[in-house]
Amino acid sequence: MKKRKDQIFFAKAVYDGKEINAVVDCLKYGWLGTGRLTERFEKRFAKYIGMPYASLVNSGSSANLLAIRVLNLPEGSKVLTCAAGFPSTLSPIWHSHLQVVAVDVDLKSLNIDLDRVEQAVKKHKDIKAIIFAHTLGNPVDMKRIMHLASKYKLQVIEDNCDGLGSEIYGRKTGSFGNFSTCSFYASHHMTLAGAGGIVLSKNEKSAYRVKSLREWGKEQITLGYDKDHGVYFDSISNGVPYDHRYSYSEIGYNFKVPEIMAAFGLVQMDRLENFHRDRRKNFKYLMTKLNKLGDYFHFVETLPQANPSWFNFPLTLRDKVPFSRKDLVEFLEKNKIRTRLFFAGNILRQSGFKSLPVILVGGLETADKVHRDSFLLGVHSSQTKEMLDYMIDAIEEFIKTNK
Ligand SMILES: Cc1ncc(COP(=O)(O)O)c(C=O)c1O
Repeated sequence: MKKRKDQIFFAKAVYDGKEINAVVDCLKYGWLGTGRLTERFEKRFAKYIGMPYASLVNSGSSANLLAIRVLNLPEGSKVLTCAAGFPSTLSPIWHSHLQVVAVDVDLKSLNIDLDRVEQAVKKHKDIKAIIFAHTLGNPVDMKRIMHLASKYKLQVIEDNCDGLGSEIYGRKTGSFGNFSTCSFYASHHMTLAGAGGIVLSKNEKSAYRVKSLREWGKEQITLGYDKDHGVYFDSISNGVPYDHRYSYSEIGYNFKVPEIMAAFGLVQMDRLENFHRDRRKNFKYLMTKLNKLGDYFHFVETLPQANPSWFNFPLTLRDKVPFSRKDLVEFLEKNKIRTRLFFAGNILRQSGFKSLPVILVGGLETADKVHRDSFLLGVHSSQTKEMLDYMIDAIEEFIKTNK
């Protein structure tokens, strides 16, 4: 294997003069805060996913926090999630003063283990909601989730931060639950100039509340940004006529985004189908070529009804292989191939989470396994066939010399 000079990035945003011009036009327009482009982006994105309402925020993590806040659960209510994956699927439950109930991850799909979910909701009839990710774009069985949700009266939040464009049962992930979220961080399927997130909602009232909470909890977000000129006395505060922009019906946050992010994102949406095509093609190529290494790795499996738009390509070392993840990953990194671990692995083993009071249903053997043995390769649009072949050759060479 001839060593490369340039690195193969794990993720890379694709954009050109079109996004840059859109941002420049936005800067020339004069109003830089949330405005008409944000509203245009929200409407277009909601339609794309197949949800009626969307609220743009500054990150996927903020989106998860707001989705949990608008569930309106009394303090201490139980919310079910997966112990493995990205921390900000789990941490907003704790931030919202709710009780985390966690179950293991499924080794085949790397999604929340649905048998354990069923066990948990049967055992704890007072679980009020479930939040889970479509891991790396691999769709969770939403028919089974929605069946359990209606049987056990659960509200459902789909963390679709890594699953933009994935489909199951002919529908986009993020269109099934009461709420779903998406991330537009720089490494994701599409970006809003490096960051961003969105909350999708099924009804107008909750979408209004998400918008209110992202703006400090203020009243009357429905007015429309372009009509927002001058002082209004359209609210009452402590018996006094007051401006809605300074009337707060609850305690919120500032999760707004500058308008240039929406300008950038609207152009990125024109590229989405190409991004999805490339991600699917790159994933399929890696899977076809690496599949023969099944004695060494577990490969991710999808449901027959699923059509993922992959975020990454995960590999999990089988038990008792004659090498460690550290050795393999360091070999790839030394050969200019950028990789990542599977996010936080078992989140509950992370030092910041160890003292979290969690109700566990079942053990966390698989979460510990992915913590120890999983890592990710990139499948983004900037990867050429030559780069993918180089990655495959490197893995094969490592195995040949370490078996
Ligand atoms: C599953 C999942 N949820 C939430 C997030 C958080 O998104 P953000 O980085 O935009 O806060 C991420 C980040 O990659 C993620 O992978």
